[in-house]
Order: sequence, then structure tokens, then C-alpha cells
Amino acid sequence: MEQILPHFAEGKVVKGFGRGSKELGIPTANFPENVVENLPKDLPGGVYYGWANVDNGEVLKMVLSIGWNPYYHNTKKSMETHVIHTFKEDFYGSTLKVIMLGYIRPMRDFSSLDELIGAINDDIQEAKEKLDLPENASYKQNNFLFDEIKEDV
Ligand SMILES: Cc1cc2nc3c(=O)[nH]c(=O)nc-3n(C[C@H](O)[C@H](O)[C@H](O)COP(=O)(O)O)c2cc1C
Repeated sequence: MEQILPHFAEGKVVKGFGRGSKELGIPTANFPENVVENLPKDLPGGVYYGWANVDNGEVLKMVLSIGWNPYYHNTKKSMETHVIHTFKEDFYGSTLKVIMLGYIRPMRDFSSLDELIGAINDDIQEAKEKLDLPENASYKQNNFLFDEIKEDV
């Protein structure tokens, strides 16, 4: 994992199934297919933590899932970011940048929605703590997050 991370990704936020906000109470921003396809081939599916910003705005902590959402039996691989922040509005169409710094766990199936929500809340807690470590906190100032936004992503 050391060779693969950090992984830098940016793309326009697209609509997912809309379950994140409604069912989970944990909004997730979905990356388009081309960003998912550009993930390193040997990057394991699962849950990651790192830094994110929307349209080069404030840099915020995030958790991100990669995979087929076994609880929902998705047929397409997705890459979904929960930015740890309360946004006033949806940001579909905005450019989301993420720096993935660490791995938390593999994707899992759960026997209830409450268990999935509980696991994501534990991920959020772990991300908050890990991102305060100096080796991770330093990425908050990384140029990638402030560089001109690519128009073709
Ligand atoms: C931090 C995080 C961890 C997640 N872990 C799992 C998981 O272990 N199993 C799973 O089926 N889905 C997991 N998900 C994905 C959720 O099922 C998904 O975000 C939800 O279905 C909303 O998707 P939608 O935006 O396409 O509606 C995770 C999502 C996040 C942000």
C-alpha cells in the first residue's frame, strides 16, 4: 500500500443512487466512471481516509469507499466520498479533489442498515484521528488541492 498511496484524484461529482443522504444520513459524493477507471489496478477495494475539497475550497477531512457496495449488491464499481462537514447544499457538478492517504478496512456486507451506518461512523472517527497525525496533516497544504482545476475531468 505504501507504493500506491497517497493517491490523488479529481473529478466532477455525479449522481449516485441517492441512498447516501436519504437512507444512511451520510451524504456521499460519487466520482464519474473515468476517475474510477483511473484508480491504480492494484489498489484494493475498501475504505480510505484523506483530505478533500470542493471547487478548491476549504480542505476538509474525508472517508472514501471503493467497490461494489456489497450491502446493496451494486453491479458497477463506485468511488464515493463522504466529506466530514455539513454542507448547506448538494454539490453535483462541482469539482471534488481527494488525497487518499490511508486504508481503513475492506468493504463488507451487513445484516442491517444500522450496522452499515455504525461501521461508517467508526470509519469517520478513525479518519479524524489518523488525519491529525503529522505525516497526514502535512498533506492539507498540498499544492494539488489548490492547483488550477482540470476542465476535462
Ligand atoms: C466511508 C464509507 C464506508 C462504506 N462502507 C461500505 C461497506 O462496508 N459496505 C457497503 O455495502 N457499502 C459501504 N459504503 C457505501 C454505501 O453503501 C454507499 O455510500 C451508499 O449506498 C450510498 O450510495 P449512493 O450515493 O450511490 O446512493 C461505504 C461508504 C462510505 C462513504
